[in-house]
Amino acid sequence: MFAPNLITTMITAKSLAEFQSARKSLEDKVVGFVPTMGALHEGHASLIRRAVSECGAVVVSDFVNPTQFNNKTDFDTYPRVLERDCAFVESLGAAVLFAPSVEDIYPAGTDYNKKVFDLGGLDQYGEGPRRPGHFNGMAQVVTRLFDIVRPAKAYFGEKDFQQLAIIEYFVKDLGYPIEIVRCPIARAEDGLALSSRNNLLTPAQRSAAPHIYRSILKAKEMAGSIPVNEAIRTITSLIDSEPLLRTEYVEIINSLTLRPVTDWNEAEHLRLTCAVYAGQVRLIDNIDLK
Ligand code: PAJ
Repeated sequence: MFAPNLITTMITAKSLAEFQSARKSLEDKVVGFVPTMGALHEGHASLIRRAVSECGAVVVSDFVNPTQFNNKTDFDTYPRVLERDCAFVESLGAAVLFAPSVEDIYPAGTDYNKKVFDLGGLDQYGEGPRRPGHFNGMAQVVTRLFDIVRPAKAYFGEKDFQQLAIIEYFVKDLGYPIEIVRCPIARAEDGLALSSRNNLLTPAQRSAAPHIYRSILKAKEMAGSIPVNEAIRTITSLIDSEPLLRTEYVEIINSLTLRPVTDWNEAEHLRLTCAVYAGQVRLIDNIDLK
């Protein structure tokens, strides 16, 4: 059957110039965009599949953004597997994989936080103070990618709950004509939130890691029955009872302002967020409480 909109061969654009020429062929389509840092897994795939089902053409970017790493070792050890990512993205039906160079994205150099973004104060909590400059660097790359890709819709995962809230804020603040689509967290069968960083875990750490999700789920039973601070303490000790895990923080936050709450009735929507180390690998997770 003749299917004029079916894109069968994906274009891999490894430079800005290659991307710009590929972008011209998408002018008449509703373009969906899935920004990633590569080392793709089923979590990314869930975003890409959704974008493919909702848009005329999907662009996936694969770029390990130096300006959002506050730890150089984390940047250096971040897994990079572009060839494998290409085959994966193509199998999911994307039209273009954009894998630019650092120079393409930062023509004036990575003078990191040169441009300071208004993040609406949403970076004051959670990951913000623990990863100085991270969200500003993220905003720098996402706005640059939006300007280059010019999508109608962009897809982000609730895995990075704070990132998503911040992106929604600056998209509105800067007036980007882009619909931000929230996608749920994809988990392994044992409950561990899928992440490129899971590849860095030793087999023993990988077996211990699902204990994070099992522990935070207990907050659903505690909600409303014991004080918030006590729930946080109990969940922290539960996570830390696994010798291979070390909690950095557990917070219960207002889902809209991201501000930590002290009372279950303080906000209409609550979320539990956490960061936990397994050795040197930092894992984040979150669940909806109400
Ligand atoms: P990265 O960590 O590669 O994630 C790309 C997108 O995939 C993000 O929107 C993230 O929330 C989503 N994602 C990752 N794991 C997921 C999971 N288990 N379930 C659902 N969605 C998941 O986030 C970034 O890259 C970068 O900060 C980026 C936005 C690309 C800017 O550099």
